[in-house]
Amino acid sequence: MRVPIIAGNWKMFKDETEAFELATEIRKRLKDVSSKRIVLCPPFTSIPSVKKAIQGSSIYLGAQNMHWEEEGAYTGEISAKMLLGSGCSFVILGHSERRAHFGETDQVINKKIKKAIEEGLTPIVCVGEILEERESGKTESVVEEQIRGAFEGINKKEIEKLVIAYEPVWAIGTGKTATPKQANEVHRFIREKISLLFNQEIAQKVCILYGGSVKPENSKDLLAEPDIDGALVGGASLRADSFDQIVRSD
Ligand code: PGA
Repeated sequence: MRVPIIAGNWKMFKDETEAFELATEIRKRLKDVSSKRIVLCPPFTSIPSVKKAIQGSSIYLGAQNMHWEEEGAYTGEISAKMLLGSGCSFVILGHSERRAHFGETDQVINKKIKKAIEEGLTPIVCVGEILEERESGKTESVVEEQIRGAFEGINKKEIEKLVIAYEPVWAIGTGKTATPKQANEVHRFIREKISLLFNQEIAQKVCILYGGSVKPENSKDLLAEPDIDGALVGGASLRADSFDQIVRSD
């Protein structure tokens, strides 16, 4: 019922030419895959070349961030409309790197989510605890607070339009992955919260991706968990062969 999503977060890697080459290779390798939604999220400046490389395929284009206003004097920012106009249909919001390095709060993320949905983009909303929080048993309370803050004032119709990514910060780019069981526990917890905040039917529909050192060696076991509906892949999405293997890992 939930169509799995495998999204590649290319972060600040791949210039125009490299992005075109990678997207072209990914397209070639994944042309027979129809059971999953594939999303590529290159840096802003590489969006046009990836758009060109995937045109006419079933691969979706996504961005890694956006501003919550329609337009205005916000130097260095990009609006939802601009992303749509460039061919994006997804946008990653609230990534832990945005929270940690650029001071993004749940309130800011909430404004971005609302704007993205209003404009017709599908947000991939990231939540997750840092190592210290996990070690002190605070994972659930941290994730709950992020969910409540990010989804404040969002209605049932809107919540159905977004994707959640659980990314334990200690697992991002570190080579450490949550075990499938650890990850699924948090996914189940998130689904329960969505059920309480909205309803059971919506909770069953919402796609919850796992992110944090997903690679071909661990993706099969992670994706086999009942509440894990796909993956948000960083490092391993920068190579067509490893991304291909992750997409096919079931
Ligand atoms: P990683 O990044 O796969 O390199 O750990 C995941 C992410 O930050 O989305």
